[in-house]
Amino acid sequence: SDLRTFITGLPKAELHLHIEGSLEPELMFALAERGGIALPYGSVEELRSAYQFSNLQDFLDIYYQGAAVLRTAADFHDLAAAYFARAAADGVVHAEIMFDPQTHTARGIPFAEVIEGLSAACAAAERDLGITSRLIMCILRHLDEADGFATLAAAAPYLDRIAAIGLDSSERGHPPEKFARLFAAAGALGLRRVAHAGEEGPPDYVVQALDLLGIDRLDHGNRALEDAALTARLARSGMTLTVCPLSNLKLCVIPSLDRHPIDRMLELGLRATVNSDDPAYFGGYIGENYHAVATARGLDRAALATLARNSFLGSFLDDDTVARHL
Ligand code: ADE
Ligand code: ZN
Repeated sequence: SDLRTFITGLPKAELHLHIEGSLEPELMFALAERGGIALPYGSVEELRSAYQFSNLQDFLDIYYQGAAVLRTAADFHDLAAAYFARAAADGVVHAEIMFDPQTHTARGIPFAEVIEGLSAACAAAERDLGITSRLIMCILRHLDEADGFATLAAAAPYLDRIAAIGLDSSERGHPPEKFARLFAAAGALGLRRVAHAGEEGPPDYVVQALDLLGIDRLDHGNRALEDAALTARLARSGMTLTVCPLSNLKLCVIPSLDRHPIDRMLELGLRATVNSDDPAYFGGYIGENYHAVATARGLDRAALATLARNSFLGSFLDDDTVARHL
């Protein structure tokens, strides 16, 4: 349709994408076979039918299980190469990709296998597809602070390939304050800082992410809208929100897409962006996320262009490069 063509043709950056969440069932089975790993599902169809979640934790349980097929640098390369090919088809020209090293190092996979595979795919995407990228190393908040510090230490030889530290996994019961010292250490090493907050957790977790983690960008942030003063603060400071509509729907953060707050966020002056989060699990890549909110909320082309523009403004590209994309 016209709308889909318009959305695809909009140059855009993706700022909230977990590479492990782009693992399609077909590739999961192929990597399981390559690595001689048994999956607890008999077929791609059976696996897909398990993708029904009533909250974040339901999803995370299946997502961590799926990630167990990722073992070698070649596996991580192939995973990211598949994402880049799909993103290019949606008009993505820049991607800031999250990865969860602890999901792999906890299984005995060396940090080097993860980063070497991902960074090789990033270099190939720039060369072959013209997509620039950054890597964001996410810390699993359900694990303790010491595990986070060990992960930062493991990343030390690779800091030239890592743009930012992030915070993800089970939000409720794991407030940002738990990682205040880790984020201070990461900041001192020159890393940018992002955190998931206000996806399921309360507005106070967003306040903590700002005040205690020093975030440069807020992942999700939906529940910040419950607090008018916080919303005003986010708008005033030009904070970018990486919003993920199909994720919000599948994880029951919203009851239906026609209740998605994306247009309210823009009206409130928030620098909102649209992203796919975990597209293999939530039913659509970035173009599908733009299309879903455009149709459910009646966004016009100017609003879609604003969302795409915001994705460059909120990126970690240097100012001159951002200006070239606007
Ligand atoms: N890890 C992968 N996707 C996530 C999400 N939407 N929230 C928290 N942790 C995640
Ligand atoms: Zn996420």
